[in-house]
Amino acid sequence: MAGADKTADPCVMVIFGATGDLTKRKLFPALYNLAKDGHLPDKFAIVGVGRQEMLSDEFRDQMIADLKEFAGKEADENGIKWFCDRTYYTGGDFDDDKKLFADIKDMLRDVCDANDIPPNFFYYMAIPPSMFANVAKKIVKNGLGRSENGNWRRFIFEKPFGRDLASAQKLNADLLKILNEDQIYRIDHYLGKETVQNIMVFRFGNSVFEPIWNRNFVDHVQITVAETLGVEQRGGYYDSAGALRDMVPNHIFQLVTLTAMEPPASFNADSVRNEQVKILQAIQPFSPEDALQCAVRGQYAAGAIDGKAVPGYRSEEKVASDSNTETYAALKFEIDNWRWADVPFYVRTGKRLAAKHTSIVIQFKQAPLMLFRDTPVERLTTNRIEIHIQPDEGITLHFGAKIPGPIVKIGAVDMDFNYSDHFGEQISTGYERLLYDCMIGDATLFQRADMVEAGWRVVTPILDVWNAIPARSFPNYTAGSWGPAEADDMIGRDGRSWKNTLI
Ligand SMILES: NC(=O)c1ccc[n+]([C@@H]2O[C@H](COP(=O)([O-])OP(=O)(O)OC[C@H]3O[C@@H](n4cnc5c(N)ncnc54)[C@H](OP(=O)(O)O)[C@@H]3O)[C@@H](O)[C@H]2O)c1
Repeated sequence: MAGADKTADPCVMVIFGATGDLTKRKLFPALYNLAKDGHLPDKFAIVGVGRQEMLSDEFRDQMIADLKEFAGKEADENGIKWFCDRTYYTGGDFDDDKKLFADIKDMLRDVCDANDIPPNFFYYMAIPPSMFANVAKKIVKNGLGRSENGNWRRFIFEKPFGRDLASAQKLNADLLKILNEDQIYRIDHYLGKETVQNIMVFRFGNSVFEPIWNRNFVDHVQITVAETLGVEQRGGYYDSAGALRDMVPNHIFQLVTLTAMEPPASFNADSVRNEQVKILQAIQPFSPEDALQCAVRGQYAAGAIDGKAVPGYRSEEKVASDSNTETYAALKFEIDNWRWADVPFYVRTGKRLAAKHTSIVIQFKQAPLMLFRDTPVERLTTNRIEIHIQPDEGITLHFGAKIPGPIVKIGAVDMDFNYSDHFGEQISTGYERLLYDCMIGDATLFQRADMVEAGWRVVTPILDVWNAIPARSFPNYTAGSWGPAEADDMIGRDGRSWKNTLI
């Protein structure tokens, strides 16, 4: 993890896909927030690149409108002007326009001259993943890709990074033919969230938790990433991806690795990522039988969210009316190492679930009951640490306390830490920290090639089985519920249940 006080070098950010959804919703507001907090260097410029031909002034007008809409009421005229003064645009087709890359080269030279910026460039690929390797290749071919003469060149790639093990391996191999691994920043914006970063601080910056964070004390771990939204405008992409691909090898496995990894030797990028990848490599491979028993898929039918009727998945825009794509996935697996042997990890994610809720639950084993033999207490409350990531960020410790009175009775109580109560509201898109880290060259919170492939290695056998045996019962959960009954059965067979509680 970076020391947050490091000053970023003067640099130019080149956004490929500057007219797209991600740029206006996330990248512009994140850059704006960074500038407001003084984290951007004075000598900084943005070059937007998109398919449409337009002048820099037209692009700036669009940017102003986008900032007003998506950076919220925080966006003020001075801040917006600061941006406009250092934003440029050039357009053309990435596929067939040889001229485009020559134009980009000219523009970068002019922008560096006009703003007295040395040629430190970072390229943000906010474009369809099928174009990643080609665009990177053209940047390198035009002499803009290699770090040289003390000036750096970095590339940020948006997810999805492959759609299975073979495609991820090919993409990594294609990129590594032209770039060094230390130039590649594979972004997973979940890692930009404070609570996710706090998992490491919580575990390794306190002495009370780590001694009990293992198979001797932990009964099981649950990770939930639940959304109330459906597929919105992303039906076309989502219908070819599904919940497992979209969420598990990236977001959910990031949470798993941070929860389960050994203490790294330091917060240096490779030390942390070495420990993360060991966890992914220790997840027991899913055999075809495991894929049937320990993986559940679901698809939502019409229902209601917050009292409002919503359509079923098959009636969503750009989704096939007989689609067999899953909108829910739940897995059970074990991490085969000394710390976690025999401790099941249950993870689940889904769309149109009962609540927007992302959490990690560490469920501890029950204390021995014998002390309470002569009391009315029949069961002890089991301890649980819940790390809440969305929507409210915080940590809850669940434990038993004596209910006041002459008879020994135990009530379940919670001790809550809420981020916003202690540290105030943080206005963040989740991208600020990651953009800043890329500028200072800290790759700790980005995925390395071996991590991406290790994640796909776990889920690809499940995808293969699901592909070979189409789901027969879809749709199998109602929008607004907590998912298919099969997922409750999967965890229920182990005598456990999902924690659907919220802070
Ligand atoms: N949107 C999100 O919240 C989100 C979240 C997570 C990950 N992502 C990932 O981020 C990337 C971008 O997503 P997005 O939602 O911003 O997509 P988008 O709205 O479709 O934008 C894609 C951008 O790429 C440009 N483009 C596409 N083909 C081009 C070509 N042949 N030549 C030149 N420009 C081309 C588009 O230009 P035109 O406008 O001219 O078509 C547009 O600027 C994708 O990899 C996506 O999976 C997005």
